[in-house]
Amino acid sequence: MTAVGIDAIEIRTGKLELDLAETFAPAKGEEPEKYTKGLGLHSSSFPDAYEDIVTMGANAAHRLMERKGLTPADIGRIDVATESAFDNSKPVSTYIAGCLEQVYDGDFHHANKGERKFACVAGTQSIDDAYNWIRAGRHRGRAALVVATDTALYARGDPGEATQGAGAVAMLITEDPDLVALSTEQGYGSADETDFLKPNQQFPSVDGKRSVQVYLARMREAVRDYESVAGEIPPDEFVLLPFHTPFPGMVRKAAALAYRHMIRDTAVEEELAPDIGRQPRPEAFDTDEEYVDAMGEYTDELVETDRYLDWYEATVDPTLSISREVGNWYTGSVHVARASGLKHALESGMDLTGETLGVASYGSGAQAEVHAETVQPGWEAEIEALNVDEQLEARYSISYEEYKHIHDVHNHDKDTDAEAEAFTPPEAEFVFDGWGRMGERKYRYVE
Ligand code: HMG
Repeated sequence: MTAVGIDAIEIRTGKLELDLAETFAPAKGEEPEKYTKGLGLHSSSFPDAYEDIVTMGANAAHRLMERKGLTPADIGRIDVATESAFDNSKPVSTYIAGCLEQVYDGDFHHANKGERKFACVAGTQSIDDAYNWIRAGRHRGRAALVVATDTALYARGDPGEATQGAGAVAMLITEDPDLVALSTEQGYGSADETDFLKPNQQFPSVDGKRSVQVYLARMREAVRDYESVAGEIPPDEFVLLPFHTPFPGMVRKAAALAYRHMIRDTAVEEELAPDIGRQPRPEAFDTDEEYVDAMGEYTDELVETDRYLDWYEATVDPTLSISREVGNWYTGSVHVARASGLKHALESGMDLTGETLGVASYGSGAQAEVHAETVQPGWEAEIEALNVDEQLEARYSISYEEYKHIHDVHNHDKDTDAEAEAFTPPEAEFVFDGWGRMGERKYRYVE
């Protein structure tokens, strides 16, 4: 069977940066360590006044198409994953296609366009849609463009404000991909939860502490479901383990549980036993509570062992480098984590061809999905082509007053127009260009 997967990837960050430790924490009367140590975040990306989910998505897709020498005729579907849509009928993919048609000969009239929501899971589902479309032989030799784009803003004063971010990831899904091939095996953990939602409102209603527990519970289910088709996951199965990353501290918690699960009944558990004992088994306890407490104590000791720290340092920490600088991108976040891990591997001179990644997506509401990906021979050139470091370096660092201004500019309940004060000059990119006669957002390309 021919491999199907991600052929190319582009990352587009919002052009503004809010330093969380130096700027945000003091303004909020908080300790910088809550961000740098607790949440694991250095800064958040924000969209400048002329940026939004469409411009960031279209700019990422444009660079990807240019780099791969594609024209609209080469693309048979455009699927957008977002939790920040501003239109309840017209999909964001149509706006992005409209942007791209401004700069290419030809159009996307032949392309199937859609939109999904469910944070990272939506981006992964869009990749799955493309995978199934190609596998079914319906693609007529064309590739699928998947764009995950969000402005992850919270109401000012909400605890989630600490984890904001904005950016887009564009991915090309093809046969014989250059980057990673997808496994057929998948695992799901899905339940009707009310931990984070936006019932016809721009900013989320969040039960933050519970959302963390829901993330871990759904992830646990997804891993078990994955193992029911793929077999038990040995501790050294995955060379990298990218998770949905609302903030790195969340992944730190998930990784500890994942490792504990993977080493259970293995030689690693036995090797660690003289120092920290074996994992508690439920049958040894009178109540669930006692068992859970004992597991908590075991996990606290496990994450202090060299064995765990080495695994975490190699497999999980590299996936967090970009997230630390940009915050949560909702739908794009696991895709940023994958790119971050591969970028680290490239910079460290690792040969990953043929190695396996474990990819763990998540969306509040809530669903987790786990699958494997095999790194393809063209991965180095693809990752080498990313310009994310240059983009991060070029961001304009905003003061707290400027942050409030830009937060208001992107607040749908406040009147904003295309003339709102921007902090950077647009250059060779799509920009927001005001409102049309039916209330639609309009865009133009600035040379
Ligand atoms: P909070 O009240 O701002 O922060 O809420 P906190 O007081 O819990 O502190 C955060 C961490 O920093 C804690 O670590 C503190 O101990 C530590 P933990 O105990 O959890 O390991 N800390 C410090 N460490 C060192 N030195 C210090 C210090 N001070 C504190 N001085 C919360 C944090 C995440 C709840 C909040 O930001 C929030 O509500 N965020 C939004 C919801 C969220 O991100 N949930 C994550 C799971 S759900 C998900 O991922 C889906 C999502 O992407 C939505 C979607 O797209 O579907 C969010």
